[in-house]
Amino acid sequence: MSWAVDERLVEDKLSQLSLVEKIGQLCQETAECADMDALRERIRGGKVGSLILASTPFAGSEAQVCLTVAELNELQRVAVEESRRGVPLLFGRDIIHGHRTVFPVPLGQACAWNLELIEACSAMAALEASRAGVHWTFSPMLDIARDPRWGRVVEGYGEDPFYVGECGAAVIRGYQNVATGSMKSQGKLIACAKHFIGYGAAEGGRDYNTTEITEHSLYNIYVPPFERALAEGCMTVMSAFNEINGESASGSRRLLSGILKERLRFQGFVVSDWASVWEMIEHGLAADESDAARIAMHAGVDMEMVTTTYLDCLEALHAAGQLPMERIDDAVRRVLRIKLAYGLFESPLTSVSVASDLVQTQTEARRLARQAVQESVVLLKNEKEILPLGRKEQSLLLVGPLLHERDALLGTWAMDGNPEDVCSYSDAARAEWSSDQLLMSDERASMDQMLAYAQAQDVNRLDAVIVFVGEPATRSGENHCITEIELPDGQVELVEGLAKLECPLIVVVTSGRPLVLERVIDCASALVFNFHGGVESGTGLLDVLVGRVDATGRLPVSFPKTTGQIPIYYNRKRVGRPWAGAYLNMDAEPQFTFGAGLSYTDFELEGATLDKINYQAGEDIQLNVSITNTGQRSGVAQLQIYAEDLVSSSSRPKRFLVGFLRSHLDVGQCEAVDYTIPSERLSFVNRSQDRVIEPGEFRLYLGFDASCEMMVPFNISR
Ligand code: BGC
Repeated sequence: MSWAVDERLVEDKLSQLSLVEKIGQLCQETAECADMDALRERIRGGKVGSLILASTPFAGSEAQVCLTVAELNELQRVAVEESRRGVPLLFGRDIIHGHRTVFPVPLGQACAWNLELIEACSAMAALEASRAGVHWTFSPMLDIARDPRWGRVVEGYGEDPFYVGECGAAVIRGYQNVATGSMKSQGKLIACAKHFIGYGAAEGGRDYNTTEITEHSLYNIYVPPFERALAEGCMTVMSAFNEINGESASGSRRLLSGILKERLRFQGFVVSDWASVWEMIEHGLAADESDAARIAMHAGVDMEMVTTTYLDCLEALHAAGQLPMERIDDAVRRVLRIKLAYGLFESPLTSVSVASDLVQTQTEARRLARQAVQESVVLLKNEKEILPLGRKEQSLLLVGPLLHERDALLGTWAMDGNPEDVCSYSDAARAEWSSDQLLMSDERASMDQMLAYAQAQDVNRLDAVIVFVGEPATRSGENHCITEIELPDGQVELVEGLAKLECPLIVVVTSGRPLVLERVIDCASALVFNFHGGVESGTGLLDVLVGRVDATGRLPVSFPKTTGQIPIYYNRKRVGRPWAGAYLNMDAEPQFTFGAGLSYTDFELEGATLDKINYQAGEDIQLNVSITNTGQRSGVAQLQIYAEDLVSSSSRPKRFLVGFLRSHLDVGQCEAVDYTIPSERLSFVNRSQDRVIEPGEFRLYLGFDASCEMMVPFNISR
């Protein structure tokens, strides 16, 4: 754990508070309220612990105002100077993939398989947001989602629990870690791992829906990313909206107190999701507000987001003997602990001069944003090596509904982003090629007009057509689910029409979720996939298209061939009849598997060996393998290492990721790589809920996606 506080300070602060003031610490209101005088009065009375800087429950997909630093400071001044005990307010805002500098959406960042980069983007987001007065972000989202119909798949880091945990840990390091000084003074944010737990398993990909998660999947698929986040010192956790196995995730003592606080020893505080305490009434799991407050407090929700069941009911519940002071004190301690650890008591205000100072970091932020796009672009097809487009004499036709887009490229959760900051694909193309090399369809052109425009050109004079298709940002994110994960209407037809021109066709798809791309793949000479990339979308993409950098992005999630194959994920369990059981009309393989993506060069693996064949349980595995760049360009090999446990007491995935690394190699260069696989990566939680490594035969698989075949066997004995 990277943060700690002197518990005597916590006790001292706690002992000064009255019951009303204690309860106040457990209440979060929205700062965007109609009656600011009344809010100030509640702050003065010690009845507010935190403010969320969002004005609607769909902050990721609706415009949100944010108070200025001066306005936030004024509210903070009231808390510190005019409330009896002067406990500062905690200001929270969803900083999910950047603040003013918008980086690729989380699923896009996950394509980089570069944890240092993810950490750096998060650190920059923290710096910008903290200068705007924000203390606390509701990120990273660690939900495992195996259903891309669910709009929030975009906010996560993919389908593999280990990889999601590693990405989440990198995000937390970026937000929270300081070398010296207090978090607040160093421009850091308090992280919040969310949504605990199971939210990503919503039935039918419908948001806020029922989840049924077995004990086995809970411990082996859904909990591990949170366990990893806590090991990294994540200071807060958000309880989810969803019902899970008959309980509300925000009302489950088993999940919040049992698993999170006792089993995983979480010392920070749990905040509910927006209204998720109150929503227990809608679930039919609480009779009224008082009942909801009682259930949530007993379960372990320490702070209630936005709804006021705690504010209105906790005092009476305590008076009626239904809520012991120990539980109230425990919750308040947790909140105070975080406020102290962050440095809020030492410096409650944000410097206004610092807030206007962002210009200083802008060059670095944009450089980072560009690198993040470069590394998140995934090349999925490249027939006859049409890419990269290196030759300067090129003549290109650019069309498509996303060609001139800016808003769409910001992605969901870009509340503080500005479309004017976005380098669109057409901006980037204009910077790359001269105007006589480029033909571009008009910004207002309909799909038919784009096709007609393309058909009117002399294709013999063109080297290639590039079409930019995909989803607008508002087609994914919270409460934005769809039944068919196809391209929006008319786009496939546009691509098919362009394919008839008999000119090489490069299809660039930008989206907030995996899409079904079969028809598009058939038409395309090259297919490039890019999750919404943020402000440097255009430049970063062009860097890949022209080969200024290698294509290094790899998918963190499987792409189905058709919506009907969902759920489809690489780490599925074995079945009794592997040779049968697919569909009558289709196999059960994805279009693109987890980890897939092409490079502009080729890599070969050779001589994979382990330091031994027989290990004791608990011993780390030492792998050695040579990677050679056998292609014609320098590039980055993205090595992935999977394991298989041949026999286990409960079923395990047929293979599961246990390691990954990047190796930059020049043409012909060979690197001998040593990689240690910590023994716990081979473990799982058994039916007695113990984490175990069961003795027996194992295999490692090495290569460049989840279907890799190079195999190295080993044994584990007791
Ligand atoms: C979302 C959370 C978010 C919160 C605050 C909720 O609707 O589920 O992920 O952090 O709103 O905006």
